[in-house]
Amino acid sequence: MAQEKDVSRREFVKAAGVVSAVAAAIPAVHGAPAIQKVRAANDQVQFGIIGTGSRGQYLLKHLKGIDNGRCVAACDINPESLKKGVDYIGSNPKQYKDYRELLASKEVEAVFVTTPLFVHFPVTKDALMAGKHVFCEKCLVFKPEEVHALRALHLEHPKQVLQTGLQRRYSQFYQTVKQMVDKGILGRVHHIHAQWHRNMINKPSSLWTMKPDGEKNIANWRLYRSMSGGIAAELTSHQVDVADWMFGSQPEFVMGLGSLDILKDGRDVYDNIQLIYKYPNGQKMTYSSISTNQFLPYFNGNRAEMGEIIMGTEGTIELTVGGDNPGVTFQPPIAWWYREPPKAAAEVTKAGEKKKEVVAGASMVAGSGAMGPIPILTGDIDLTGKESFIDKEVKFAKRWLTSKGVMLQEERRNPVDVELESFFDCCRSGRAPIANMEIGMADSVAVILSNLAMDEGRKVYFNEIEKMGRPAVPAKKG
Ligand SMILES: NC(=O)c1ccc[n+]([C@@H]2O[C@H](COP(=O)([O-])OP(=O)(O)OC[C@H]3O[C@@H](n4cnc5c(N)ncnc54)[C@H](O)[C@@H]3O)[C@@H](O)[C@H]2O)c1
Repeated sequence: MAQEKDVSRREFVKAAGVVSAVAAAIPAVHGAPAIQKVRAANDQVQFGIIGTGSRGQYLLKHLKGIDNGRCVAACDINPESLKKGVDYIGSNPKQYKDYRELLASKEVEAVFVTTPLFVHFPVTKDALMAGKHVFCEKCLVFKPEEVHALRALHLEHPKQVLQTGLQRRYSQFYQTVKQMVDKGILGRVHHIHAQWHRNMINKPSSLWTMKPDGEKNIANWRLYRSMSGGIAAELTSHQVDVADWMFGSQPEFVMGLGSLDILKDGRDVYDNIQLIYKYPNGQKMTYSSISTNQFLPYFNGNRAEMGEIIMGTEGTIELTVGGDNPGVTFQPPIAWWYREPPKAAAEVTKAGEKKKEVVAGASMVAGSGAMGPIPILTGDIDLTGKESFIDKEVKFAKRWLTSKGVMLQEERRNPVDVELESFFDCCRSGRAPIANMEIGMADSVAVILSNLAMDEGRKVYFNEIEKMGRPAVPAKKG
């Protein structure tokens, strides 16, 4: 028993070392602590923000702490939202009601588009045409015709940055997991499962609560298909992007079931959806989002609502992002790694005949989660290889405690801060953003086609998008 513990600890130490090595390989620009320095005003990208509602205000709170950009303009059709946004940023930006007037301002170099989904394309289009760099919240576009139009427009403006607000792409945890997948540490990854479950009965979200005047009130935009892609756009979009990233491709087709069963207050978006995405090489993502229960069966049940589970032949990762939304207690990101039972090796006798199946690594306990979970760590418990013996022991002890859920993991920087700073860097350097136009577009296409699959109750192929939203070709006469 003592020997078993010892081997298991040795294995843990070895495995933790692998994770540290992978995490250390992530470029510093996407996760290193911010070096606080006072920037000269001309080093800062002067930006405007269009739509200072819930997400706009959240980004402005983060933008306040980012020193390579400066807010010079803000716009919202709702004066209350505009005032809140302006108060959050505190840089006394010029205020606009009509976004076209903001875009006409020469001092604005870049814009954040944080309007409702159905207003993303018109604003992004006008901003690109006005010569601005654009950070547009996910989903980049709403309709098939906008997919083709924005691709064409982006080609016409190659020097302007077009970044999508998919912050998981900027998380060190997610980047580390991606490296683990690519380096084969999880073996062959065939399956991903993701969920975003909420209890909208006991814990309603103001964003999803019907306000007076139904569809006529733009504040209800999330609840109507004329303005929104519903759950698929607001929640699934983040997670199908994770699957695209991990598998390294877009799906071949999607099928699913969506229905409106509980929240029947006049809305026409689904309140629960289940989807299956089929990727090349037999890879699949199964997905669920419901509105009546928030239980998350990962992380020993310590967290609720959303996460992804990435399953390979050699191991599994459970992961989720952190949260710092107003009114919600800060929750750190978590990524846990479980190893699969080791491969059974056939013992061969001297005569060359198979004797019996044995399990490689004799003292490892076979079965699911044979060793684990191992936290995928960053920050103060990363192993640098330069620690003294004692420091190393302390780090391993902290890792064990983290794996038991006693200690919390921390990402060195919130991925939202990283995505914002990185956007300004791209504006200055001309580098393409990580969450670039094609990543945002693939994500939007997945949302559009997921809703179509559920609406029509059929398997929808991803290449169908090429024929959708194109002007009809007139039939040849004669
Ligand atoms: N990346 C993420 O994790 C994340 C999280 C939340 C929301 N979002 C996205 O952010 C976007 C905004 O969502 P929200 O929750 O802030 O919605 P919201 O309704 O709270 O805010 C939208 C704001 O845009 C304003 N607006 C509407 N039309 C406008 C126009 N023509 N000109 C100027 N302002 C206009 C509205 O008055 C409102 O204040 C959505 O696309 C949503 O999907 C992304």
